[in-house]
Amino acid sequence: MPAHLFIRTGPNSGEVHALEGDRVVVGRGMDCGVRLSDAHASRQHFRVERRGESYWLVDMGSRNCTAVNGVPVDEKELQWGDELRVGLTRLVFLSGGDVTLLGPTHTQAIQKTQTILKEGSSYEMVGSSRAMRAVFDVIERVAPLDVSVLVTGESGTGKELVARAIHRNGPRAEGQLVAVNCAAIPGNLIESELFGHEKGAFTGAGARRQGRFEVASGGTLFLDEIAELPTESQAKLLRVLEEKKVTRVGGTEPVDVDVRIVAATNHDLRAEVEAGRFRQDLLFRLEVVRVEMPALRDRSSDIPELAEFFLERYRSKADRRVANFTDEAMAKLVSHAWPGNIRELKNIIERAVILGSGSDIRADDILLPADAPHGEAGFETLAGVERRHIERAMALADGNKKRAAEMLGIPRSSLYDRLKEYGLG
Ligand SMILES: Nc1ncnc2c1ncn2[C@@H]1O[C@H](COP(=O)(O)OP(=O)(O)OP(=O)(O)O)[C@@H](O)[C@H]1O
Ligand SMILES: [Mg+2]
Repeated sequence: MPAHLFIRTGPNSGEVHALEGDRVVVGRGMDCGVRLSDAHASRQHFRVERRGESYWLVDMGSRNCTAVNGVPVDEKELQWGDELRVGLTRLVFLSGGDVTLLGPTHTQAIQKTQTILKEGSSYEMVGSSRAMRAVFDVIERVAPLDVSVLVTGESGTGKELVARAIHRNGPRAEGQLVAVNCAAIPGNLIESELFGHEKGAFTGAGARRQGRFEVASGGTLFLDEIAELPTESQAKLLRVLEEKKVTRVGGTEPVDVDVRIVAATNHDLRAEVEAGRFRQDLLFRLEVVRVEMPALRDRSSDIPELAEFFLERYRSKADRRVANFTDEAMAKLVSHAWPGNIRELKNIIERAVILGSGSDIRADDILLPADAPHGEAGFETLAGVERRHIERAMALADGNKKRAAEMLGIPRSSLYDRLKEYGLG
C-alpha cells in the first residue's frame, strides 16, 4: 500500500491521493501529480520523494514555503501523521494502512487527521524573512535532539510557539508539553508547583500533589519567564536537572523524572547573571541551544504575510465579509514599530475585523496604540491611562516585573496579565 496525502482544508478538502511512483509533485500546475486549486500554492510547490523505505518532502522553491507541523522546511523526512501546509491548504501524510478508501479505516484516518489538526492549527508559524528562516532552521535541527533549549526574545515574538514546535517535532511528541509560567506563580508556591508537595507540607497543602516535573515526565516541560524564578528555587531547579529526580515539598523520597526542558525569557539572562539575579550554572544548563526570536520591527517584510494570516483566521469569526486590506491600511501596518510584536499585530487585526464596517479593512480601522488611548473628543480612556502608568512603572523598575508590581500595589500575576493585554514587554 502506498503512502497517501489526505487534504483536510482548502479548496480541495476531502481529497485523498495515493503517492504512486518515486516522486509526486504537489502544486497548482496542470502537470502536478496532486493538483491544488489553492491560489496561494505555487505551480510546483513541493514534491514527495521515496528514498528506500522513507519518504521525503522537498520544497520546490515555493513562494511562501511548505510547513511541516507548523515549521517551514526545505527538505524533511516525513513521518506518518505529519501535517503539511501549502498556502491555505493543509494536507496530512498518511500510511496506506491508515487509508482504505472503502473501509471504516477511512473514517478513522479522517478522525486521526482531525485530532492532529485541532492541536496543530494554533501552532502554525508564519514568516519567510531571512531572520525567520534562520529560526525555522534552528528549530528543525534542534527539535529531534533531546537537548535543553532556551528561547529568548521580546514579548509577543512567538517564544511559546517555538517551544511547541520543538516539542511537536521532537522525540517526545507523543508525551505531554507542560507549561509553567514562572512569573504568574507567587514565589512561595513555585517549588510546590514544579516539584509537587506531600499532604500537610504547608498550610493549605490538603492533599499530596504531583508537580509539573512529574506530570511532564516523558514529555517536555516549558519553563516560561524563567528569569522570574526566585534565586532559592533556581538552586533547586538546577539540582533536579542534574539528578533527574524531584523530591516533593515536605517529602523525602526522590522520584525519577525524565523531561526535556525548553525555557523562555524576554530578559537578557547574561545581564541577570552579572547583576547576581540569575545563577550562571543554571543558565549553562538551560542554554544548550539558544533560539533568539527577532523583533517584528526588524523583519517588517513578514508583516503583510502575518496580517493576511490573521485576517484569514478572524474573517471566519466575523459576521461580515471582509475582503482585504486597502493599500493604506497595509502601509500603516508595515510602518508601525510593534512594541508588542506579533501578539499586538494579531490583536489589532482581530479588532479591525470585528469593529470595521467597510468591505475592506481601511487605515482608519487599524487602531494603533498611539491612536487608541483617546476615546470621544480626545478624552483619554482609562485603559490608555493604565497602560501609560504601567509603562512608567516598568521603566522605573528597569523591566523587573516583581518590583514594578510592588510599586503598582498589584500582584505580579495581575501585572503580567495587563502587560500581555497591552502588548508591553
Ligand atoms: N510566526 C508566527 N506566526 C503566526 N502567529 C504567531 C507567530 N509568532 C507568534 N504568533 C502568535 O502571536 C502570539 C504571541 O506569541 P507567543 O505567545 O508565542 O509569544 P511570546 O514570545 O511567548 O510572548 P510573551 O513573552 O509575552 O509570553 C500568539 O497568539 C501566537 O500564536
Ligand atoms: Mg510566552
